[in-house]
Amino acid sequence: MNWWWKRSIAAGQNSGKKLEEKRVNGPNVVPENYKSVALIVGVTGIVGSSLAEVLTLEDTPGGPWKVYGVARRPRPLWFSKNPLQYIQCDVSNTEETISKLSPLTDITHIFYVSWIGSEDCDINATMFKNILYTVIPSAPNLQHICLQTGIKHYFGIFEEGSKVKPHDSPYTEDLPRLDVANFYHDLEDILYEETAKNHLTWSVHRPAMIFGFSPCSMMNIASTLCVYATICKYENKPLVYPGSKASWNCYADAVDADLIAEHEIWAAVDPKAKNQVLNCNNGDVFKWKHMWKTIAEQFGLEMVGYIEGKEQVSLAELMKDKDLVWDEIVKKHNLVPTKLKDIAAFWFADIAFCSENFLSSMNKNKELGFLGFRDSTKSFISCIDKIRAYRLFRK
Ligand SMILES: NC(=O)c1ccc[n+]([C@@H]2O[C@H](COP(=O)([O-])OP(=O)(O)OC[C@H]3O[C@@H](n4cnc5c(N)ncnc54)[C@H](OP(=O)(O)O)[C@@H]3O)[C@@H](O)[C@H]2O)c1
Repeated sequence: MNWWWKRSIAAGQNSGKKLEEKRVNGPNVVPENYKSVALIVGVTGIVGSSLAEVLTLEDTPGGPWKVYGVARRPRPLWFSKNPLQYIQCDVSNTEETISKLSPLTDITHIFYVSWIGSEDCDINATMFKNILYTVIPSAPNLQHICLQTGIKHYFGIFEEGSKVKPHDSPYTEDLPRLDVANFYHDLEDILYEETAKNHLTWSVHRPAMIFGFSPCSMMNIASTLCVYATICKYENKPLVYPGSKASWNCYADAVDADLIAEHEIWAAVDPKAKNQVLNCNNGDVFKWKHMWKTIAEQFGLEMVGYIEGKEQVSLAELMKDKDLVWDEIVKKHNLVPTKLKDIAAFWFADIAFCSENFLSSMNKNKELGFLGFRDSTKSFISCIDKIRAYRLFRK
């Protein structure tokens, strides 16, 4: 049984709580002799945090790994026991990137799991170029670059007014680019050009909606819904589904942040995955109508599902005056201090709750040998447990 499959089975068998307590209490082992050296760009993000955790485990393929992690903010608390070398750097700034990253001459693999938080093609391209133009010339043992984009490749961008007709799902990796400006296209083009010129291998990862725990992510559906549920509980209100009828009833897919980390590590070390574009989801489907019940149970809330004839209500609109309520909750329950605008992306939930048929195919992955999977419901519960274990939300 390979490593990816073993981890998938273990994730399903361990109750989320036990697993998360073990993770939070660490400590992770610091290996003595590194075989590979990773640079994670976007280490505090939803997948960056999982990569930092998974790469520093003892039995991770390609390892022992030495890990550098880059983000703008100071090293967050949850990395306190992680042996990664944390580098505070704004990679949209060329001089800063050169000065902080060119001394890292031992990098063998780049994991690019970042974006600026807007769909601006120029800034996103500049960030990626700054990394590649700095690391490629200074790291002679560099072998592989993983680039994370996503399924917007198949349906276009979030920006309002995007009139492009999406591809029909289930999405397969061979579907052509849509005729719309999308920073994913720019990042791919930079990747293809630089790896060809410098004889490096690459992989492009297109995850579905991600279930992860990071409170620093700009698009974290799990933390967003946990915040919503926490506010409902504080105000003694039921957990009301604000979305459309179609999104309530349709099949949806998602991917656990740890599974993407495993997928990216697989692509970084397995010759079969080299120079491939790959979708990434949990390998199952779920419905929000079922997940909503799970979330309500986890928070001990009464649930109100979709009500026939009701239009979608914007969660961003509903939550727009709740900053002070969140501050009160944080204070009252002695939680790690966070601001509502940082920990919840209600606009992202609004998109998830008006979407349907965004399913992608994992067949190419299976043909190439990646059999990792997660149970999406257990994956969501595991995020809730981890978020609670780090005291970002109340029980
Ligand atoms: N989240 C999802 O559900 C999802 C689903 C499918 C695809 N995707 C795609 O995956 C890609 C990565 O998104 P994500 O959601 O994984 O990211 P994320 O969780 O929002 O994290 C972004 C990371 O990049 C860092 N960062 C941002 N600007 C930076 C800068 N100028 N310099 C240095 N670090 C910077 C952030 O840390 P600091 O803020 O501390 O700098 C953070 O660590 C995007 O293309 C996104 O569209 C995401």
